Amino acid sequence: MAYTPKILAFAGSLRADSWNKKLVKIAVSGAKAAGADVTYIDLKDFPLPIYDEDLEKKDGLPANARKLKDLFLANDGLLIASPEYNSSVSAALKNAIDWVSRPATGEAPLGCYDGKVVALMAASPGALGGLRGLVTIRSILGNIKCTVLPEQVAVPKVNDAMNPDGTLKDAKVQASVEALGAKVATTVAKLKA
Ligand SMILES: Cc1cc2nc3c(=O)[nH]c(=O)nc-3n(C[C@H](O)[C@H](O)[C@H](O)COP(=O)(O)O)c2cc1C
Repeated sequence: MAYTPKILAFAGSLRADSWNKKLVKIAVSGAKAAGADVTYIDLKDFPLPIYDEDLEKKDGLPANARKLKDLFLANDGLLIASPEYNSSVSAALKNAIDWVSRPATGEAPLGCYDGKVVALMAASPGALGGLRGLVTIRSILGNIKCTVLPEQVAVPKVNDAMNPDGTLKDAKVQASVEALGAKVATTVAKLKA
């Protein structure tokens, strides 16, 4: 691979023992194996107030939003595993997306999302694996200029599906999550060629 794809990976959960944090790390290993340079972050390390336009007008972008935005700008692709809350996107993920979307003076609107190659995944102890939340996340990111890969993985009954070391018991599902991470890397490399 001539170009080394740069990929940012995170979960849409703040929970310390999050299944989605474990899941996205599987995709990270797939992306790394495909030659990508991957930065994994925990949104809990970037606490943000609920987006409030008055607050932004008064104080500007919070320091953590700026840090997150810089990470988005520095990467070509995103690996996102997110829980489904009440059939939709988690507030933590939506709030981060909203803050990061705010343009600073001189920045192109949605410049930090434009052309970003994104893979989505979800894990849930429930029967649908968070699949309904992915529909919403795909719609949001597609509407703000991301290229969201058609492939995605939702892992149902995740509390029974994962080994203590964070790998998935079903080798086929494990491979599909690794392949999803690799697909972001290879897609970015093709686009940059
Ligand atoms: C407010 C709330 C709403 C939830 N709604 C759903 C839901 O709609 N579908 C689902 O599969 N699980 C739902 N769950 C359960 C989550 O899937 C479960 O807590 C999961 O472990 C969260 O992901 P995490 O382990 O990555 O933190 C909900 C949990 C919370 C706290």
